Amino acid sequence: MKKEVRSAVIAGNWKMNKTPAETTQLINEMKPLVKDADCKVVLCVPFVDIDAAVKAAEGSNIEIGAENCHFKSSGAYTGEVSAEMLVACGVKYVVIGHSERRQYFGETDQTVNLRTKAALDAGLTAIVCVGETLEQRELGYTETLLKFQTKMALTNVSAEQLKNVIIAYEPVWAIGTGVTATAEQADEGNGYVRAAIAEAYGADVAETVTVQYGGSMNAKNADELLSMVNVDGGLIGGASLKAEDFSVIVKAASK
Ligand code: PGA
Repeated sequence: MKKEVRSAVIAGNWKMNKTPAETTQLINEMKPLVKDADCKVVLCVPFVDIDAAVKAAEGSNIEIGAENCHFKSSGAYTGEVSAEMLVACGVKYVVIGHSERRQYFGETDQTVNLRTKAALDAGLTAIVCVGETLEQRELGYTETLLKFQTKMALTNVSAEQLKNVIIAYEPVWAIGTGVTATAEQADEGNGYVRAAIAEAYGADVAETVTVQYGGSMNAKNADELLSMVNVDGGLIGGASLKAEDFSVIVKAASK
């Protein structure tokens, strides 16, 4: 982390877990554990839990995010939710282009870009996910792919709007598998993302962008991962569903 130039952000990604009642309970458990954090603390929750999450987090240092948004403000898009709707519900962040959405829901680099722009236009901070599969890594395409995905996601995003973008480097092979990237692999991947931003916006701008690592980050490995210069925080899946584990990661990012 390089806190003197960019914010450290720990964000939970609850995926398809927790009912509204469970949301209230978990956030109430987390609040006292993370209240002294010296980093931003975000929980990205299912749409139906947003109301409960915003209420439970009120007056605390926890900010609420969603896990996706559509690229249109309104219209005939059955089952979708717009960025404006999220803002109206008190949401501040949104995860865009998570690998599970790319893998199971037909998300492409183009739709990731459209959703990113819609989120930024609505005033949300976008947590944009990029990452290579194991096959791509083994073929030696990690750098090319991360740079391509990063640049595609940021097409037509201005330098001003970039201030509200966080990129999460999440190697697909490390998500939910218990296999974490080594600290060196995480730093290298995040470094490729930063290099892509530097190519598009200049090195000075790239230095200020928060780049998270995600993929089996947990209470045990967070310290080491977050000690790397290019790792400015984490996008946490499984470990964000346990108050104690999540708070240990927040404390690691607060050092
Ligand atoms: P994980 O998920 O921490 O459970 O690997 C991370 C993510 O998918 O954002």
